[in-house]
Amino acid sequence: MKIGIIGYGSMGRMITEKIAASGSLAAGDIFVSNRSQEKLQNIPEGVIVCENNCDLAQKVNASEEDQGIVFLCVRPVDLKNVFSEMATDLSSETLVVSLNGSITFDMLSKFFSGKMAKVIPSVTAEVNRSQTLVCYNGKAEENDKQDLESLLRTFGNVIELPEDEIGMGSELVSCMPGFIASIFDVLCASAKKHTSIPDDQVVKMVLQTMCATGELMLEKNMSFEDVVSRVATKGGITEEGTKVVYEAFPKTADLLFEKTLEKRRMTAEKAKTSFEEDT
Ligand SMILES: NC(=O)c1ccc[n+]([C@@H]2O[C@H](COP(=O)([O-])OP(=O)(O)OC[C@H]3O[C@@H](n4cnc5c(N)ncnc54)[C@H](OP(=O)(O)O)[C@@H]3O)[C@@H](O)[C@H]2O)c1
Repeated sequence: MKIGIIGYGSMGRMITEKIAASGSLAAGDIFVSNRSQEKLQNIPEGVIVCENNCDLAQKVNASEEDQGIVFLCVRPVDLKNVFSEMATDLSSETLVVSLNGSITFDMLSKFFSGKMAKVIPSVTAEVNRSQTLVCYNGKAEENDKQDLESLLRTFGNVIELPEDEIGMGSELVSCMPGFIASIFDVLCASAKKHTSIPDDQVVKMVLQTMCATGELMLEKNMSFEDVVSRVATKGGITEEGTKVVYEAFPKTADLLFEKTLEKRRMTAEKAKTSFEEDT
């Protein structure tokens, strides 16, 4: 299998570095291109820099012997240019993967009528614990899915969703590290008002407990309710705290998703406009 990464920014670099480090592809089978050449100075050993996107498409294209996957790691406003440049260089057997959740397959099909996927990774890919989301258009086949997902599993787990669930799915995996960090930031700030334990120790204690609670639930197949009832004994101290959370927090959680989903709708509209201009 050969893969190409177009756009060597935050996402393109992460995907290239993770897949190169995993050793799952032969040296020389990973190709990159980027608009500005400066970003391509420090790339992993064995990764090949292409002159431009057309050159990359031609080198990565699927053949009878070899699968080809091209990742488009550019912003929506640049996606149209990338397609305009190289759509005719792409073979319809090559799987084209967009990293953008807002641009639909329908919109992309104006430029490329072959096999496509969308991939939403999480920042937790940095520690090989991404809960990555993937969806496919009707043309991708079972072997395309297997090849792509084997690459994505080099930096975490993979869940396939229908295209219309990628928005809410992104809230749950891509935005969630930010939600979790801000919730625990508020909790720690409140705890610090009641203790002389140094700030960094408070954060460490909470972080270790947070990670271990997740591990406990995953390993022992426990629900949130199971954990609460295990720790919050009737009439005890923990129960006082969990009662407050269940009484006061639902309103905040509802507001959070109302706001983020509204912003997501607006962002999708903007992305659609910038993508469709002049097409
Ligand atoms: N960042 C995240 O956490 C995240 C998470 C999930 C999905 N995404 C999605 O992933 C996509 C990329 O995001 P990002 O954060 O990686 O963006 P980014 O850091 O801005 O990187 C985009 C890269 O694309 C390059 N580029 C632009 N036009 C190009 C062209 N015609 N040919 C080749 N390269 C070109 C840019 O080159 P220059 O050096 O010239 O600017 C830049 O290096 C976006 O659609 C975003 O919505 C991002």
